[in-house]
Amino acid sequence: MQDIYGLGIESSCDETGVALLKNGFQILADPLYSQIDLHRLYGGVVPELASRAHLEKIPLLLQEALSYLEYKQANEKQKISYVAVTVQPGLLGSLLVGFNTAMAVSFAHNIPVVPIHHLEAHLYAVQLNGHSLTYPALGLLLSGGNSLLYNILGLKKIQVIGDTLDDAAGEALDKAALLLGLPYPGGPHIEKLAHVFVNEQKEKGVSERTLRKQNPLPKILKDQGKEHFDFSFSGLKTALLYVLKNSEGKFSKQALAYYFQERFIEITVRNVDLALKKFGSKQVVAAGGVLANQTLRSRLSETIGERAQFLVPDRKYCTDNAAMVAALGYNYFMHGNFSPARKVHSGNAFVF
Ligand code: KG4
Repeated sequence: MQDIYGLGIESSCDETGVALLKNGFQILADPLYSQIDLHRLYGGVVPELASRAHLEKIPLLLQEALSYLEYKQANEKQKISYVAVTVQPGLLGSLLVGFNTAMAVSFAHNIPVVPIHHLEAHLYAVQLNGHSLTYPALGLLLSGGNSLLYNILGLKKIQVIGDTLDDAAGEALDKAALLLGLPYPGGPHIEKLAHVFVNEQKEKGVSERTLRKQNPLPKILKDQGKEHFDFSFSGLKTALLYVLKNSEGKFSKQALAYYFQERFIEITVRNVDLALKKFGSKQVVAAGGVLANQTLRSRLSETIGERAQFLVPDRKYCTDNAAMVAALGYNYFMHGNFSPARKVHSGNAFVF
């Protein structure tokens, strides 16, 4: 079979990415520019700055990705066949930069545009490790803006079974970190401090079991219905605030990072456990920036056990990237689900 080359473009939030993929999983090039330093000063993403930065970087990244194929001299076999681009959800100005770039590529190379839902792309990032999804699969997405649980029945057949009730997973970690005086984004700092704390305690002979009993933050409500897979983290965050206020320095920063992370993981693992029981999923695919957390990964793996195959992309592909966009785009392209160049150019951009 002839190899299929495809491009992916990601610009929905604060990461600009262009990726070149072969056969939907083999990454040939995936230059990525993170705007994190640009937004750090403001403690969050500033939409106008984000779209301007995308505009500045995207031509350079596109050039870098395409140069892999030496496109000008390329023979037909090396021609790219599709360009996949995130069209939702995201910051409108940022999405437009990516989408217009995809249109230009589509026009210049006479190839179709495959519109991609960013969150669906996260679920298919495991394809980059050579895995394909086996349905029904459970999808767990924990990022700065989302905490979602999906029952995945097929391509575009995705039911949301658990959603964000208040603060999203990463948002809760970032806000907790802020309370502890840690820099943005706080998730990785909480993980680091928690790790230091648990190791120190182990050296002193204190077991994790004992630490769990000593956790001053409240446990998730026992009377939560079993059919409920939503995520709520804001109560936990408020509890942290009060412990900080009232405990008069009894707990170190490291200890509180550990206790917060533990409760956070309990909520997440509980939802996955109950959903697995209800839906009998064959796989659990997890992604989003928060899945970079090693303790969360191993706790999920323990809970899922032999019941299902647990798949998480490499850390780099847990966060926003264009390779996952190109990977999902490949699936749609192979199923003939794309917009021919002409239709896109005639102004039907967001109506697929
Ligand atoms: O998916 P993502 O990269 O992008 C956005 O949603 O914008 O997720 C970012 C989130 C941040 O809230 C960050 O604190 C969190 O992922 N995060 C982590 C870790 N690394 C990043 N949370 C916990 N542990 C980590 N190691």
